[in-house]
Amino acid sequence: MLCNCQKEKQNQTADSPDLSILDEVLDEYRDQAGSLVTVLQKAQDLYGYLPLTVLRHIAEEMNIKPAQVYGVATFYTQFRLTPVGKHVILLCQGTACHVNGSERIETALCQELKIKPGETTPDKLFTLTNVACLGCCSLAPVMMINGQAYGPLTPDQAVRIIKDLYAREQQASEGGENA
Ligand code: FES
Repeated sequence: MLCNCQKEKQNQTADSPDLSILDEVLDEYRDQAGSLVTVLQKAQDLYGYLPLTVLRHIAEEMNIKPAQVYGVATFYTQFRLTPVGKHVILLCQGTACHVNGSERIETALCQELKIKPGETTPDKLFTLTNVACLGCCSLAPVMMINGQAYGPLTPDQAVRIIKDLYAREQQASEGGENA
């Protein structure tokens, strides 16, 4: 699994991703029947998403028709075909969250980030994604960022969490510049 800065590097070269980093995965699974989903999961871990070039490469290497690889990659919601931000905000729109005001959280986040659900901020720091039940309904309304669940949220709290993360990113980049 790559760290975030390595993923960023991969994203920066999205038009020509380094296919060699997938060699180890392909060597392990190339001849295993039914391993396409696993290979796609591992490729997504490496690149942060599944660029078309990578899907074509997987099809070629695993001797599977490209249409079949695209079909699987587009069928499962776990797979992303476009780059995402460093922090993916999963905003729950399940029933419990919906009745507890997830729409107001969504409106506040969209206003703060100036994007719509499914979009990524121009600085590539945040992607906002609406999802079904996250499995922690007692926290409704809830959002999850980098594996951590936040809830029950008010719109102000949701915005504060984003601002704090943004401030940490600013500090980290200033620290990096001064190093
Ligand atoms: S409905 Fe949102 S966590 Fe279950």
